[in-house]
Amino acid sequence: MKVLVVGSGGREHSLCWAIAKSRKCRKLFAAPGNPGMAQVADCVPISVDDHEAIVEFCREKGIDFVVVGPEAPLVEGLVDKLEAAEIKAFGPNSRAAILEGSKGFMKDLCARFDIPTADYRRFDEPDAAKEYIHLHDVPLVVKADGLAAGKGVIICRNKNEAHAAIDHVMTELAFGEQAGAEVVIEAFLEGEEASFFALVDGEHAVPMVAAQDHKQVFDGDEGPNTGGMGAYSPAPVVDQAMTDRIMDEIINPTVKGMVAEGRPFKGVLFAGLMITGDGPKLIEHNVRFGDPECQVLMLRLKSDILEALLACAEGRLHKIKLKWHDDAALAVVMATNGYPEAYEKGSVIRGLDKAKAIKHAVVFHAGTDRVDDDLVAVGGRVLGVCALAPSVAKAKTIAYRAVDKVDWPGGFCRRDIGWRAIRKR
Ligand code: AMP
Ligand code: GLY
Repeated sequence: MKVLVVGSGGREHSLCWAIAKSRKCRKLFAAPGNPGMAQVADCVPISVDDHEAIVEFCREKGIDFVVVGPEAPLVEGLVDKLEAAEIKAFGPNSRAAILEGSKGFMKDLCARFDIPTADYRRFDEPDAAKEYIHLHDVPLVVKADGLAAGKGVIICRNKNEAHAAIDHVMTELAFGEQAGAEVVIEAFLEGEEASFFALVDGEHAVPMVAAQDHKQVFDGDEGPNTGGMGAYSPAPVVDQAMTDRIMDEIINPTVKGMVAEGRPFKGVLFAGLMITGDGPKLIEHNVRFGDPECQVLMLRLKSDILEALLACAEGRLHKIKLKWHDDAALAVVMATNGYPEAYEKGSVIRGLDKAKAIKHAVVFHAGTDRVDDDLVAVGGRVLGVCALAPSVAKAKTIAYRAVDKVDWPGGFCRRDIGWRAIRKR
């Protein structure tokens, strides 16, 4: 079949890499894609926001199946438009993507369906939000309601910080008008974070595996938050018993809740969890694969990903069982100097062939472009250097061996990806 992957990040490169191996895939396209994806797919210069052009392209080329990578086009209704044009797609429609598009909706769903999460209140007015803060203990977490590119969450250690956070989101509209129209204020959860993924076909959910990422930019989990500087799977905190609890207490009630709301969810449900002394608690739901988590999942997946994604879209997931490598996978993100603050575009990257020649290493592209004969960095997060090996520690050694072959003075990476899994427990 002819498949189109929408997006241009490391997540979408790893999806293309896995889909290209499927016996069902006859021809693969990516919109807009990147130079790494171009090795396995035909890249077409259509932006992920240009829904009309995507639908038109699918009609023209007779695309059988579209896999949508990022959250923004899902929340904005790309799948609705594809389905209206009778083009099959992987990912939720906009009614279901509200699970990620509105933190307030997600929290209310948890309250209605008894899904464990931090205690919270929603406010559409700053004075009422500030009053609430006076009556509650710190630390507290202030969150912009809408999509804020992973930056709309402010952890407040004292009441002054919480006041400033409310002003930042609601008055200064730091994340835009829509994201700042409402805030969620919630209790701070203590524990270890994990990213849990399940495929959902509307009614049934099939667990994938868990991963852990490193959100902060510097070693030792210091510095500002980023989209994720590295990831690994399996996550030691999510063993089989914990997986069963997460499915029973969080994933299955969410799937049922969305049906009851008249918003059946299809696609991948990515639960951002805090594993607390009291069991798993939901921090947030995302309606797409994580990045870089997707890269390590694709390395570990043994089953045909295209068959699984199709089963999701066609409502026949109950017939699917996913098989995984026992080996661990680890991804090190290489980013442009300065990220996540302002950075310059256009620095030249060399040495990728040497990195890819390392046995069991795979390099996924995120923010790269080709200018004449050079590969250049055009994004914050630029490469995902990954490895698959019998343990997280071994995968780490191989991934950094490959990182060290990359000749890119304009970029940097953390050197401690995987520390939580590798330390003695
Ligand atoms: P989110 O965008 O909701 O995933 O939040 C970003 C990060 O903020 C999470 O990965 C957590 O590290 C942190 N966070 C969010 N909510 C809470 C909470 N209630 N308690 C503790 N940490 C949180
Ligand atoms: N790595 C976290 C995310 O994709 O949201």
